[in-house]
Amino acid sequence: MIDVILGLQWGDEGKGKIVDYFAPQYDIIARFQGGPNAGHTLYVQGQKIVLHQIPSGVFHPHTTNLIGNGVVLDAVTLKRECETVKSFGVDVRSNLFISERTHLILPGHRALDKASELQKGDAKIGSTLKGIGPAYMDKTGRNGLRVGDLLHKSFTSNYIKLRLKHQRLLDNFNFQEDISAGEDEFFEAIEFLRSLNIVSGEYFINDALAKGKKVLAEGAQGSMLDIDFGTFPFVTSSSTITAGVCNGLGVAPQKIRDVLGVTKAYCTRVGSGPFPTELNNDTGEQLRQIGSEFGATTGRPRRCGWIDLVALNFACMVNGVTKLIMTKADVLDQFETLQVCTAYNIDGSPSTQVPFQITRVELEPILQAFPGWQTNSTGITTGQPLPPAMDSYIAFINQHLGVPIKWVSNGPGRDQIISL
Ligand code: GDP
Ligand code: IMO
Ligand code: MG
Repeated sequence: MIDVILGLQWGDEGKGKIVDYFAPQYDIIARFQGGPNAGHTLYVQGQKIVLHQIPSGVFHPHTTNLIGNGVVLDAVTLKRECETVKSFGVDVRSNLFISERTHLILPGHRALDKASELQKGDAKIGSTLKGIGPAYMDKTGRNGLRVGDLLHKSFTSNYIKLRLKHQRLLDNFNFQEDISAGEDEFFEAIEFLRSLNIVSGEYFINDALAKGKKVLAEGAQGSMLDIDFGTFPFVTSSSTITAGVCNGLGVAPQKIRDVLGVTKAYCTRVGSGPFPTELNNDTGEQLRQIGSEFGATTGRPRRCGWIDLVALNFACMVNGVTKLIMTKADVLDQFETLQVCTAYNIDGSPSTQVPFQITRVELEPILQAFPGWQTNSTGITTGQPLPPAMDSYIAFINQHLGVPIKWVSNGPGRDQIISL
């Protein structure tokens, strides 16, 4: 049986913390898409750790972690991250497994990401510049190199062929950066990667499922960044939704049980693209400061706004969300009034659907005001009553989405979570 935890907004919903919280209930934690564009924050022994490639269950001694075939893997980031977790006594040689079908991010991919963004100018996606798009392009273009290829003698010659292609593309972009600058570090990391557990991910996971093991699939990014259903072209290059679990791990849809959707109590977005409830004012700045809304991967300030139930409803629909987890509720503690977007006014008419191309229409969020709870919520634990105004806020969202909020996260700490 597989449960899924994924983000329902534009990423950074707090998935890392939530996966870390639920990990002890599972045997295997598996990443199924994305790459080091992800930054999943958790606190271990009071220390903040941001994971980019390794699943967020890695600090639990009885869980096994899998990097699935749907992920794109940066060996340099992985090596660095393995060193970090080792300093906490975690031995990745015993609890981390990597699918041989996982595609590699090469130095040329990172350079191409930069070149492509530069060429787009003001229309840039706001990519994390980790080489995600170009790596997935080489996958769908049937040129990419996979982790299993490392074990074959043709790896270096195939790398050189692909590098030539990348250089030609970079020349077309008139982009000067030298790919070879990062190659020593890359090959060192490739050597390290060879020493890790490289497996057939699909057999690994299906054998475990056949033995009755419990798997938690950990999403990266968020549903509104999905390559098909997100705010294209301002999206990432992978399937961030539940369907991506099947593709990204090699499991059948019938194996999926619960889909736990994570949403902030408000909304953020980092990078370019439409964001209907964005607040370009003092309130947005207040959310950013109180919520420490600065990117875990790039440090960029996150754009902030009110919770958007139109987008969330859409995300619940495409993912088949069965339970909701609302994070960062404590960030709203001080606000006198909260707003919730219940519909969009599109070209003068109300709508509860996410339009095909938000940037091509006149869109205004229709907001409903709620009183804030104006209480410090960070110490509330399971079983204790919620402030009445928080209760009403949650009840409204539950009713509007038709999916219940089952957990409320009220601080970044491991134990700051209320089960409702
Ligand atoms: P992810 O990418 O979805 O894992 O989220 P990030 O780690 O990028 O961003 C979430 C940020 O919010 C991190 O700094 C977390 O430590 C923090 N965080 C998570 N849950 C809560 C919460 O309930 N309250 C507060 N105040 N911070 C939280
Ligand atoms: P986690 O897993 C927030 C955004 C980037 C950019 C767009 C494309 O931590 O929630 P890419 O590097 O994929 O080409 O960037 O997607 N983005 C994220 N935003 N959280 C993430 O991951 C993100 N991963 C990518 O900012 O707008
Ligand atoms: Mg993040």
